[in-house]
Amino acid sequence: MCGIIGIAGTAPVADRLVDGLKRMEYRGYDSAGVCTLHEGALVRRRAEGKLANLVEEVSGNPAPGLLGIAHTRWATHGAPTAANAHPHATDHVALVHNGIIENFRPLRTELTDDGRTLESETDSEVVVHLISREVENGASPQEAVQTVLPRLRGAFALAIVFREHPDILIGARRGSPLVVGYGEGEMFLGSDALALAPLTQKITYLEEGDWVVLTRDTAEIFDGENAPVERPIVTSGASAAAVEKGNYRHFMQKEIFEQPTVVAQTLASYIRQSDESVALPQIDFDLSAVNRITIVACGTSFYAGMVAKYWFEQFARVPVDVDVASEFRYREPVLEEGGLSLFISQSGETADTLAALRHCKEAGQTIAVVVNVPTSSMAREADLLLPTHAGPEIGVASTKAFACQLAVLAALAAHMAVKKGQMSRAEEQDVVHHLLEAPAALNAALDHDDDIAGMAHLIAPARDVLYLGRGPDYPMAMEGALKLKEISYIHAEGYASGEMKHGPIALIDEHVPVIVLAPSGPLFEKTVSNMQEVRARGGQIVLISDEEGLEEAGEGCLATICMPKVHPLIAPLVYAVPVQLLAYHVAVAKGTDVDQPRNLAKSVTVE
Ligand code: F6R
Repeated sequence: MCGIIGIAGTAPVADRLVDGLKRMEYRGYDSAGVCTLHEGALVRRRAEGKLANLVEEVSGNPAPGLLGIAHTRWATHGAPTAANAHPHATDHVALVHNGIIENFRPLRTELTDDGRTLESETDSEVVVHLISREVENGASPQEAVQTVLPRLRGAFALAIVFREHPDILIGARRGSPLVVGYGEGEMFLGSDALALAPLTQKITYLEEGDWVVLTRDTAEIFDGENAPVERPIVTSGASAAAVEKGNYRHFMQKEIFEQPTVVAQTLASYIRQSDESVALPQIDFDLSAVNRITIVACGTSFYAGMVAKYWFEQFARVPVDVDVASEFRYREPVLEEGGLSLFISQSGETADTLAALRHCKEAGQTIAVVVNVPTSSMAREADLLLPTHAGPEIGVASTKAFACQLAVLAALAAHMAVKKGQMSRAEEQDVVHHLLEAPAALNAALDHDDDIAGMAHLIAPARDVLYLGRGPDYPMAMEGALKLKEISYIHAEGYASGEMKHGPIALIDEHVPVIVLAPSGPLFEKTVSNMQEVRARGGQIVLISDEEGLEEAGEGCLATICMPKVHPLIAPLVYAVPVQLLAYHVAVAKGTDVDQPRNLAKSVTVE
């Protein structure tokens, strides 16, 4: 959440700053702002709402200058108004902040008791006043930052400019990512390499606790103890083109259609075609000794974890706990020796998941992560990094990252089963065959895009929608409901089909569409029975199944969606497609903002 960019440049920076914000708008989009240094003054422009409003503001009221900072916000403290938009400033200092300053209340009281007037309701503004007070008392920018950082509790990435020091840009990170970019006589700061992609590919990822002083041609990095440190400069490989929609109307649509390719890409690094085996990265611990798996994640990544629980238990016969990260630590989980803690995250930065990871690490667990950003905090803190190769995911609703998470988790479960002697060579080859069928099956599922678009009008008027599934289709039902609610704002819930009769069936009437995920197979008959219970009460069914299933139970449904017949192992991957497309087309039919739904942000870096 919140995107930060800073440029110490040799040419005017405002347009480039705003352009950088465009590539980070997925991180937050309820207000935006820019501050440049020009002729001894801080020039600040801010606007409520989407970035387009800031673009308009800056075009009518330019922000000249060769050095500046900018921000796109996802509100935590204070409403999304122009007054709460970043940069926050005093007469001497301006800054942008991503994260949460947990002790901002006592700091705010201290500042107001000191006679200072704060203009916003944000936690961030206290930081600019604390730094400014030091500067006003004669401290250098470096001294001021060094004094203030240890006083802050919580998470932050900061970019700070100083009116009296027009050649210096200071950045700091604790808990929220920040990168330094190296240009030709110019230096950059950004929340991620993507933000800087057209400016430079030469990147340094700041480490936890680091802060950096940039001039146009130098970067001095200090660690949390203020000791100068060297951090490697790497080539980022981030491409600005990855943040473009191409011929698609929305990023989400583009990302749904990328799934066959990115799943194939991901599988390619987990499967050795030569002997049809599952091949994982170098593992420095004994996978066969793992006696319990604790899976922790949020949102869609959590549902991937729920699906994986079936695979780990079925293949490797290892007991699995799955928790949402925001609850995990608070239930004081029992973490026994020999346990593997597995964290799933597209961004690798989700604050709750990261906090859970650190909790497990402290408890002596082995840490594995399935992440889509290999430079993320989770990736760096793991014992075993299992990257998904989905490429940048920009649409706020996760789609292609989820499919790749499932692919990696299936491979890991099979590999663990082999190591534990629970899966024979022939069975492993079987798993590999089925996984390799996934890209073609995803393509076949995508072929039904037009049919799904054509039935969106049946769901769009609904106030409530229920999704039902059994076995691994149960988490898929919850994933379907999450997709629908987050982008179309229709209330939706996913239930285990068999649970319907224990309460939720009371909700059923002809106005509540019930979407049933039921591939033909061993669980089909039971799910269909649950579906009949719904139908008997006037419920309108949308059945998603294969030809065989639809033939058996499709009659009398409000609509049906035909999926290819696939092995149960890859059914969750394939059935993700219709629920994603349905949510997408319903949102389009309702005219909501598909890629930037209200109140959400792509990467939630606060707890
Ligand atoms: C839903 C969605 C979110 C994320 C959740 C975790 O479509 O995108 O529920 O899955 O915020 O994010 P990551 O995977 O980055 O940890």
